[in-house]
Formats: sequence, C-alpha cells, structure tokens
Amino acid sequence: MGYLASMRIWRGNSEAGQLVEHKVEVGEGEVVLDVIHRLQATEAPDLAVRWNCKAGKCGSCSAEINGKPSLMCMTRMNTFGEEEEITVTPLRAFPVIKDLVTDVSFNYKKAREIPAFKGPPRVPQVHRMFLVPGHLPRYS
Ligand code: FES
Repeated sequence: MGYLASMRIWRGNSEAGQLVEHKVEVGEGEVVLDVIHRLQATEAPDLAVRWNCKAGKCGSCSAEINGKPSLMCMTRMNTFGEEEEITVTPLRAFPVIKDLVTDVSFNYKKAREIPAFKGPPRVPQVHRMFLVPGHLPRYS
C-alpha cells in the first residue's frame, strides 16, 4: 500500500446526514471508488455506494468529489496530494436515498419519454463487377 488518505464521506439519508472522517489506505493506481470499496470492506460495511461498470460508462458511481461532480471510478487518487483531505458527497442534483446513493429514477423516466433513434432507411446494396479492358480476370 502507498499511503493513508484522509477521506470525509457523507453519511446519512434524505432527512439528515453528516461528513464522517476516515483514514483509508491507498494503493498505486487506485481511483476514488477503490478507496470507497476498501472503506466498505474494513471500517464501514454499511456505507451505501452505487457502481456498475467501473469504466466510466454507466454513471452509477457519480458523486461530488471535493465539491465537483465526478465519476468515482474515473477519478484517480494521484490527482490529489497525499496530505489533501478528500470529501465525497452525493450529487446535489438528485434526492439522497442513503449515503452516496441518490435517487436517479428521474433519468429513467425521461429516457423512456425520448423516442428511439431510427436511422435512415437502409438502401439496398448493389454489387457490380467492372471489367477493365486488358485486365481480364484469370481463372486457373
Ligand atoms: S461505475 Fe460506471 S461510470 Fe463509474
């Protein structure tokens, strides 16, 4: 392991919550989500966090890191100083369910309202062979 990071993680629900401080080990090449998972595995097994792809595709791990909306799976720990305190809070744009998990059902509702993309109708492909004089195909 590399060093101990100072993490302030928001814990609570839609009614109330607070930032809780933790010291968490950080390994080389890790992202914030790795550290959150280590925290779950060691000190805070009841910490709620959502993730799915861990590849920056699904958006499930969205949170505010030091006040900036970010993907925890794409935010490398080495973008912060080792002495820097890192604050992770749920996205302010959505209602909190628990800890870092927010209610994003609005997104799914909106997605259902958007008609599916239909591209232009497929044009049937015509394959033609052109014979160039002096370059006749050889059959052996
Ligand atoms: S887990 Fe899918 S974007 Fe982070």
